[in-house]
Amino acid sequence: MTTGTNATPLKVLVVGSGGREHALVWKIRQSPRTREVLCAPGNAGIASIARCVDVSADDPAKILALAVNEGVDLTIVGPEALLCAGIVDLFQEKGLRIFGPTRKAAMLEGSKVWAKKLMNQYRIPTAAFRAFAAVKDARDYIRSRSSDQFPVVVKASGLASGKGVVICPTEKEATAAVLQIMEERRFGDAGSEIVIEEFLKGEEASILALTDGKTIAVLETAQDYKQALTGDRGPNTGGMGAYSPAPVVTPKIARQVDAEVLVPLVHAMYREGCKYKGLLYAGLMITKSGPKVLEFNVRFGDPETQPLMMRLRTDLIDLIEAVIDGKLDQVEMDWDPRPAVCVVMASRGYPEKYDTGQAIHGLDTLAGQSDVQVFHAGTARRNNQLVTAGGRVLGVTALGKDFLGAKERAYAAVRAISFDRCHYRTDIGDRAVIRDLGD
Ligand code: AMP
Ligand code: GLY
Repeated sequence: MTTGTNATPLKVLVVGSGGREHALVWKIRQSPRTREVLCAPGNAGIASIARCVDVSADDPAKILALAVNEGVDLTIVGPEALLCAGIVDLFQEKGLRIFGPTRKAAMLEGSKVWAKKLMNQYRIPTAAFRAFAAVKDARDYIRSRSSDQFPVVVKASGLASGKGVVICPTEKEATAAVLQIMEERRFGDAGSEIVIEEFLKGEEASILALTDGKTIAVLETAQDYKQALTGDRGPNTGGMGAYSPAPVVTPKIARQVDAEVLVPLVHAMYREGCKYKGLLYAGLMITKSGPKVLEFNVRFGDPETQPLMMRLRTDLIDLIEAVIDGKLDQVEMDWDPRPAVCVVMASRGYPEKYDTGQAIHGLDTLAGQSDVQVFHAGTARRNNQLVTAGGRVLGVTALGKDFLGAKERAYAAVRAISFDRCHYRTDIGDRAVIRDLGD
């Protein structure tokens, strides 16, 4: 069904340049409700299916000017930084349609201290924590803990592209993390405040939900692989792969997430005067005592969006318009029951230093396979050659009849693609494959 107020086909702008944005553009392009899709700034993959405009995604005023000049009907924002900078407020002041939370609501991701305090106030399950704005207080707190009270998790409060979290097995490592984040400002101003929290054991899952502030429509579940190396080793990254659904989220856990996390949170945001509209992402640890929130994000996850968009059958524009118009209760979501697995091919060295400009080969061999999509992240075209241009380069995503089928199809595609100094994990999907085989 069509819920939008505007029945004429839309000119849609997607803001961002990652695999998430490629997957969103790919899905939106399939909607009969669009007449043109623009992306700012996009990447080489997006450029093959939409018109990329060379406006960087870090300045709300420039994106607003672009939307006005181009006569854009609907803007969809990928990166959190723009949402935290108030792009939605800016568009709304001008009467332009945009999908996402306001600046104040985006604090849920923009300030971990704010989000943790809110969770405590509204009794949303999360790791026990303390917040600090001074190095001395944080160090004293760490020193006061006995050795059996480690590991602890030290987190920069502000935005750090998923990298500002350090798991610290000992007092020494925790102190070093505090100094790096607060004194050396490894993540810039994101480290002016920190959270130190209890280490949670369990399996992670990502729950993404659309909400118009009243109705919550939970997407299919997904699981992300945060660490750089196979076997969950190495530093945290933005995400090295993902699959959907996440079997760890049983129907019982899903009900708990709804009742204990999503409903109280949407209610809390309303009570705090910042009604939440947009995509709400809860990063969860499924512990023995139930789901606990690791973090909230205020936008689509990357790479989770890639397997999710492969599985979503409903028109995304209908869903997004329903959120903006407060009519989410009138739409239903339909999903491909087959699982999807996404393997991220990265530049070796990511999330630290890495080279760019490496020629990418083999993509043409995958053309026409409808169950495999290669979503581009850091890619560019130079002298008509596709080259690497970022840490995460490609998100190779496949559907399969079961997890093993999806995994094998995704890795077969990965092996058909090559670039120098390429790195990918070899275990994406394994947890779900093992559960499947155990059934
Ligand atoms: P965050 O950005 O807060 O989600 O943290 C990034 C990643 O660090 C998470 O996806 C987890 O893998 C890990 N992490 C964060 N907080 C905790 C915690 N309290 N206990 C265990 N692992 C955590
Ligand atoms: N994949 C984790 C994130 O989008 O933050």
